[in-house]
Formats: sequence, C-alpha cells, structure tokens
Amino acid sequence: MNNIKIGLLGLGTVGTGVYKLIGMRSDIMEKTIGAQIEVKRILVHNINKKREGIDPALLTDNWREIVEDEEIQIVVEVMGGMEPAKTVIMEALRAGKNVVSANKDLIAEEGRELLDTAQEEGRDFLFEAAVAGGIPIIRPLKQCLAGNDIDTVMGIVNGTTNYILTKMFEDGMDFEDALKKAQELGYAEADPTADIEGLDAARKVAIMASIAFHSRVVFSDVYTQGITKITARDIAYAKEFDSVIKLLGVAKNTEDGIEAGVYPMMLHKDHPLASVRDSFNAVFIHGDAVDDAMFYGRGAGEMPTASAVVGDVIDVARDLQHGCTGRISCTCYKELPVKAWGEVKNAFFIRMQVRNQPGVLAAIAKVFGEHKVSIARVVQEHTNPDAAELVIVTEKVKEKYMENALDKLKSMDSIYEISSVIREYV
Ligand code: NAP
Ligand code: HSE
Repeated sequence: MNNIKIGLLGLGTVGTGVYKLIGMRSDIMEKTIGAQIEVKRILVHNINKKREGIDPALLTDNWREIVEDEEIQIVVEVMGGMEPAKTVIMEALRAGKNVVSANKDLIAEEGRELLDTAQEEGRDFLFEAAVAGGIPIIRPLKQCLAGNDIDTVMGIVNGTTNYILTKMFEDGMDFEDALKKAQELGYAEADPTADIEGLDAARKVAIMASIAFHSRVVFSDVYTQGITKITARDIAYAKEFDSVIKLLGVAKNTEDGIEAGVYPMMLHKDHPLASVRDSFNAVFIHGDAVDDAMFYGRGAGEMPTASAVVGDVIDVARDLQHGCTGRISCTCYKELPVKAWGEVKNAFFIRMQVRNQPGVLAAIAKVFGEHKVSIARVVQEHTNPDAAELVIVTEKVKEKYMENALDKLKSMDSIYEISSVIREYV
C-alpha cells in the first residue's frame, strides 16, 4: 500500500491534536483514501521539551530537514506567526510539496502570494482551520456555494472572546479570569491580544470576504475593535434590552464597495447568533441562490481545529492518489474597492455620565441632530444629585457622522464621560 508521508511544523495545541487524530484514524485510511498517512518528521522550537507519546526521533528544530526530505509529500504548518512560517511554506511549495496551514495571520496578509505559488507549482494549499476552527467554511465557500453571488458573510469567528463574553454575561466572571480560563483551554493565540483586540477575528473576516466576494481583502482593510472596554454595566443594559453582546465579524459586498469590520455588537436574544455560547463559532452567509445559510461549531481548541487540518490532509492525500493536486487555487478574479469605514452605516448604543440639570438632554439631542444622527431611544435610570447615567440608542448612521458627534459631545462641560459606544444590530 502507498504510504503518504507528512511533515508537521509545530507540536503545540493544534499540532498535538493533528498528530493524535491521524493516529486515531490510521485503521480507516486505507479504505477511505487507499493510502496510509504517516507523520515522518515534526518541527518544534524547543527540541528538549518533554512530549508525552511522541517518539523523540521524529522531532527536529531544523525545518530544512522537512522541506528537503524527498519522501515528504504534505507539509502541515501549525506553528503560527509570519516568519519563519512564510519562508518554510514557500520553500515547501517550491520543493513540490503540498501544504496545509491553520495560519490565519499569514494567510490574511500574504494569501495571494502563497496561493499563486501553489498554483504555479501545481500543488494544493489548503487552510480550512484558519477560519472558525472546526467549522467547515473555506471549502463550502470555494466549492459547495461556488454557484452563488454572495453579498453577506458575518458571524462569531473568535472562540476566546465568545468564551469570555459568555462567562461575563452568564456567570458574572470578570474579564481577566475568563481570559485565563480560555488560555488554559487552548483557545487563545500565543499572544491573546490578537483575540481580545479583535485582530484574530479581523484576519478571519479578511480571508472569508476574499473568498466569498472573489476580491482580495487583507487584514488592514478590516476595521477592528476588540472587547476590552466592555464592562459589567454594558452587560447589565444588554440584559435589560433583552440582548447579548457578541464580537461580530461582518463583511458585505455592496454596490459601492466591500464593507469589512469586527466589533462588539448588542444583538437581540432572538437572533440566531445570540445563542452561540462558549468557544462555539457561527458564520452566516447570504447568497442569491442558496438564500441564508448558517455554519455552527467549535471555533478553537485542540481537537476541533485538528478536525479541520486532518480533513485538509485527507483531501490532499486523495488528490495525490488521483494525480490532481493544484485543482482549486486563488478564486479572487475581481478587484473591488473596500469602502472607507466612515461611509459604513451602523446603529449605536452610547452610555455617558452627564451633569444632572435641566437642558442637558436637549443640548445632547441638538448635537446629534446637527451631525445627522437620529435618536431611536433614551434611557435614564441611575441618577444622583450631581450626575446622571444617560443611554442613547441611535438609528443607523454613517460612522463618520457618529464620530463627529462624539467628538463634539466629548468637548461639552455638561458631559463628564462617554463610558461606552457599542454598535447595535438592527
Ligand atoms: P502553539 O500551541 O503556540 O504551538 C506552536 C508550535 O509551533 C509549538 O510546538 C512550537 O514549538 C512550534 N513553533 C513555533 N515557532 C517555531 C519556530 N520558529 N521554529 C520551530 N517551531 C516553532 O500554537 P497553536 O495554538 O497550536 O496554533 C498554531 C497555529 O494554528 C497558529 O497559526 C494559530 O493561529 C492556528 N490556530 C489555532 C487554533 C487554536 O485553537 N489554538 C485554532 C485555529 C487555528 P515548541 O513546542 O517547541 O514551543
Ligand atoms: N484564538 C482563536 C480563537 C483560535 O479563539 O478563536 C481559533 O482560530
């Protein structure tokens, strides 16, 4: 029987899961693929670290031993980061190897070059695990939904932040404790700033938008705001409004350009995304033929992510068996503009501390009116003789008008603090 040998770059959370899962499925490989998949070498950073269940003879800290090994046909990159990951992937492709990667940081910025190189070399470059962990989303977009004109891709695409927001909302846990737990569970990136500041989700939105709209969207095109400023007070208001707060990634293909952003949003509890809890992710898609479609599952962690990586490895192995690698490469054949963020329309929840005296509310309403911001509702519940907490929810307005209105409000003596500005899903 044919043995397909792979080189694994990285043996952390995901790499360990991939190694285990390949072992768990070894008995069915012959029947489903017609070949056995074998991990031949594993690249790690610290060669001396003790690794339970791993033959030390498999380990190397020199990536050239994998790229230059003629027996290795598939390189699986689960080391993360930009370099040396990019160099190793490029060298592997140029050496005629097929590559599977979970590295959204790299793909969201250098995806075009990697895919073009794979195409030139007639090799597969697959990255299902790069978006939403275990949820199949790249392959559905590139293949199953290829007959659609897709105008919207949105969802919860970061497990760490969804876990943190769920724990804060349901258990009253504080932010730091919830983040620590998410790190222990293997959901967070090596630097969790990427999760909590929305950067990880923005990379996933860039990748999904590029594939869905057939036009390259890179990380820097995505407006990004994280969850670090969400307070227990905001959560209390969300509950009062029968809503939850979720970090959403939103990409739309509109007549005047692509809109792409990641930000916390108040979402009514009846919305299907409101019930996506813990490290689960979900992605909504709207296409002209399929109408609405939603994908749900675990967005992070050892085995869910390994599920996506091993699925890709099996796909490559099948292509190798049939001599057809490099079939599906870059699908960005358009060059659509990305809309300036100020032109995008959103509704806003604004919580502020104001002087408690007649005329203050009227002055605030005047500022909004002068900046083309229409108010949907006003709540004032917590007052003392000196200060009142005022919550204003607006209709949809261009981001640039809201920014100008907030700048003006911040300069007013009667406004002590703008405590929160959160977008609201309408
Ligand atoms: P991780 O736990 O930090 O593991 C990284 C692994 O790569 C470690 O084994 C490390 O070696 C090795 N490594 C890192 N830099 C290296 C270098 N320069 N040379 C040699 N080896 C190096 O990371 P992870 O959570 O598994 O994530 C891996 C990738 O999957 C990232 O791109 C991440 O964004 C992506 N991803 C992760 C998840 C998740 O839930 N964790 C989900 C989807 C995608 P040592 O063991 O010696 O330190
Ligand atoms: N850190 C990422 C998350 C891993 O929390 O979703 C999956 O990409």
